[in-house]
Amino acid sequence: MKVLLIGSGGREAALAYRLRKSPLLKELNVFPGNGGFPDSELLPKNAMDLKKKDSVLEFVKKNAYDFVVVGPEDPLVDGITDWLSEAGIPCFGPSAYCAQLEGSKDFAKNLMKEFGVPTARSMTFSDYDSSLAYIEKEGVPIVVKADGLAAGKGVTVCMDESSAKNALKEIFLDGKFGKSGARVVIEEFMEGEEASIFALSDGERFLMFPAAQDHKRAFDGDRGPNTGGMGAYAPAPIVTPEVQKKVADTVFSPMLKGMREKGHPYKGLLYAGLMIDTKGNPRVVEFNVRFGDPETQALMLLLEDDLLQLMKDCVDGKLTRTELKIQKAFATVVVLAADGYPDSYKKNIELRLGKPKNGTEVFHAGTKLENGKVLSSGGRVLGITSIAEDLKTSVDHSYAYLKENPIPDTFYRKDIAGRAI
Ligand code: AMP
Ligand code: GLY
Repeated sequence: MKVLLIGSGGREAALAYRLRKSPLLKELNVFPGNGGFPDSELLPKNAMDLKKKDSVLEFVKKNAYDFVVVGPEDPLVDGITDWLSEAGIPCFGPSAYCAQLEGSKDFAKNLMKEFGVPTARSMTFSDYDSSLAYIEKEGVPIVVKADGLAAGKGVTVCMDESSAKNALKEIFLDGKFGKSGARVVIEEFMEGEEASIFALSDGERFLMFPAAQDHKRAFDGDRGPNTGGMGAYAPAPIVTPEVQKKVADTVFSPMLKGMREKGHPYKGLLYAGLMIDTKGNPRVVEFNVRFGDPETQALMLLLEDDLLQLMKDCVDGKLTRTELKIQKAFATVVVLAADGYPDSYKKNIELRLGKPKNGTEVFHAGTKLENGKVLSSGGRVLGITSIAEDLKTSVDHSYAYLKENPIPDTFYRKDIAGRAI
């Protein structure tokens, strides 16, 4: 198959790593890609405009792709899967209707309520005064979320009333998130331990990956600002087989059944961000409609199955196997970020990368190739990912690579998987 992969992050680097191992793959192209992809896979920067249906369709048809894999959420929310499937081109990723699960927190909340999926109590508002009155009535801690896509920056966990008021001011009065902040979801604060569980679905059946745990804050000890994710590991021991079963029965089953009954079967990957309480009961923090980044980097080292075949089975409605083939091992990804991230960060840092050993993969994220040099171009630069029989060894191997290959003007968290170890 001739496959087009859309995206440019560490997630796409990891998906490509696994897609290349598929016997079904004849040719892989990536757009826009990053500095870690070979020239033979990278497409020209002006190949197409992902925001424009005509541009995407023209390029994909002209180049006769058999299959398209979409990494990030924006094209899915814009409807790329619908555009391509109308033209008869199979595309891995949910329809625009289903992608609203990530594109609108209010949409996701309403469906969870309708289908009885456990989540935090919430209310949606579209103006400053009534949302402020609600916060004054509810008190803190409380969580304020911009309704639409906000590149992971739309959520404020407010431990005091002044930060809640400030979050509302930024959304409604300063217009910080533009259209994405036209509405706000205000949510009960949930306590517990977080985990991410991904499921592949063909609209009817689903297969779950082992749980991963992300580290969202920038600095050690879960301090500092929220980021896209500074590291992850899987499987996360907090998710015991009993918890995993509860997630299947109370989250994925009703959610996917509900979507199907609405006439919009969910085909693709559904990401459940979960809060697990001390009794092992999961509640949904958020849904995403694509693979998580950086969790995917760890999961792609663990997956033994043919990823392209699995994706094809999802699109074709033929996901009939009973479980995913996963190595009995642990994988850990440590993200190397540019100094300053997630605020304004340094760019064009030269990356001199040694060859990894010990089952370590260096997945590029925000990098580019210029005149034969690899330079940083984004905040999250690399994902150093290792697999080993036990969690601690996988962590140690990723850190050993970072110690042996120091890169100036960058930083990484030193405590990835620390709590689990
Ligand atoms: P989100 O972008 O929805 O994943 O939210 C970012 C982070 O905010 C999550 O990973 C949680 O750590 C935190 N968060 C979101 N909603 C809640 C909630 N209702 N209670 C506690 N923490 C939350
Ligand atoms: N790792 C968090 C995300 O992909 O949204």
